[in-house]
Amino acid sequence: MKILGIETSCDETAASIIEVKNKKVKVLSNIVSSQIDIHKKYGGVVPEIAAREHVLDILPVIYEALKKAKINTSITENQPENRSIDAIAVTIGPGLITSLIVGIETAKVLSYAWNIPLVSVNHIEGHIYSNFINTQEDIKFPALILTVSGGHTMLVLMKDHKKIKVIGETRDDAAGEAFDKAAKLMNIGYPGGPAISAEAEKSRVESRESNISLPRPMIKSNNLDFSFSGLKTALRYTLEKDKSWKTRISEYAHEFQQAVIDVLIYKTIKAAEKHSIKTIMLSGGVSANTELRKQLKDKVNSDLPNVNYLQSNLKYTTDNAAMIAMAGYYKAKNKKFITWQKIKVDCNLEL
Ligand code: KG4
Ligand code: ZN
Repeated sequence: MKILGIETSCDETAASIIEVKNKKVKVLSNIVSSQIDIHKKYGGVVPEIAAREHVLDILPVIYEALKKAKINTSITENQPENRSIDAIAVTIGPGLITSLIVGIETAKVLSYAWNIPLVSVNHIEGHIYSNFINTQEDIKFPALILTVSGGHTMLVLMKDHKKIKVIGETRDDAAGEAFDKAAKLMNIGYPGGPAISAEAEKSRVESRESNISLPRPMIKSNNLDFSFSGLKTALRYTLEKDKSWKTRISEYAHEFQQAVIDVLIYKTIKAAEKHSIKTIMLSGGVSANTELRKQLKDKVNSDLPNVNYLQSNLKYTTDNAAMIAMAGYYKAKNKKFITWQKIKVDCNLEL
């Protein structure tokens, strides 16, 4: 089965073709056109600009994905037996409404013109399924997925492909959003995650002794939820009190990053123990963070040696369409199609 994935929920225009044969997944193409350089100067994504860029990029990106995957898209091939693509999977939410509709309308037109069935995909589900792309073995359930991105921070319990439930989430800022805001406070660039991670690495390599101490919000709370907005505020007050903070940015970045990592890991292990989890997975843009990847892996291996640990391949951590195609594959396999007349955007879509 071949799936075309389309993703435009925020500021990345992405298209990908994956092929699933005998449980093996091959990513035939994975094209991402990022608008980071455009939004950088505003310190965040400007929805109106993002939408306009998606309109300009969407067809070239899909064309590139088809070409790279050597897919013949002749419109005359619209009989089911001739199909070179079996389904089109598109993100319908959550995300920016003006960005999402560009992907959805394009998917509708292609579905209509090529007579190819459509499946709708939740963006978070896409992040979850990014873990399934490089896994040849069957994933053992129940699985727990820590999904950490710019818009979401969630612990998701997956009993099987049809039973997916959020068991913990952030009450305010997402982890990625906290990284972005902290980087803005220290004026070290956008997006904040990679900027903080690079600064923190300097401090780690120099192994400097530091007396900076930031809180680990909600770490001892009696639930699996998170809160990161207080951490950002604590950083702001600490910077305000320290006249020499500009000479200690790497130390602040290191402590901030470690505070986020400590809470994420603590709650993940707690959730895994509570729900007798067999597989732990890590996904979302923040899962590109090297220290989070390393420390979570080490902790699972030491504290829960019988639990399998998986993390998305780096290229599938931040927004991409291969993960949307992967989630779409499971829907298409279960014949969860939707017609182009019925598919619609839902910018607040829940899991
Ligand atoms: O999944 P994603 O591409 O978009 C959303 O769905 O939000 O995630 C983007 C987020 C941004 O907040 C960015 O700062 C964060 O992921 N991020 C990182 C790293 N790379 C990206 N956070 C921490 N460390 C990183 N290396
Ligand atoms: Zn995302």
